[in-house]
Amino acid sequence: KLSSEGLVYESVNACIRFMGSLDGTHVVTVEHLRGNGEKLHPVQQAMVDFHGSQCGFCTPGFIMSLYALWMRTPDPSNAAIEKALQGNLCRCTGYEAIMRAAHAISSYGKAA
Ligand code: FES
Repeated sequence: KLSSEGLVYESVNACIRFMGSLDGTHVVTVEHLRGNGEKLHPVQQAMVDFHGSQCGFCTPGFIMSLYALWMRTPDPSNAAIEKALQGNLCRCTGYEAIMRAAHAISSYGKAA
């Protein structure tokens, strides 16, 4: 959304979001992150490299929550990561791998 600070990224729960509330916003979906390039987005690559996904059911939510956090805070604390991931539930991976991925995202540089 656009604020006095400029464009601010925040993750939202897409399945209960009213379309009208998106007026004037810039919507980014998990499909957008890879862009036209061959490389994965740093958030996606970190999740792959740190084994942050198994069945993949929860992965889009984790990816977009981490993306929104990374756009605001490239080097987040554990508490900031945990807060950003609230509401995302994973039955298979365990959260430690996702936390390691979250801390590593900035080491991948900027998105292509
Ligand atoms: S990877 Fe299966 S629920 Fe998270």
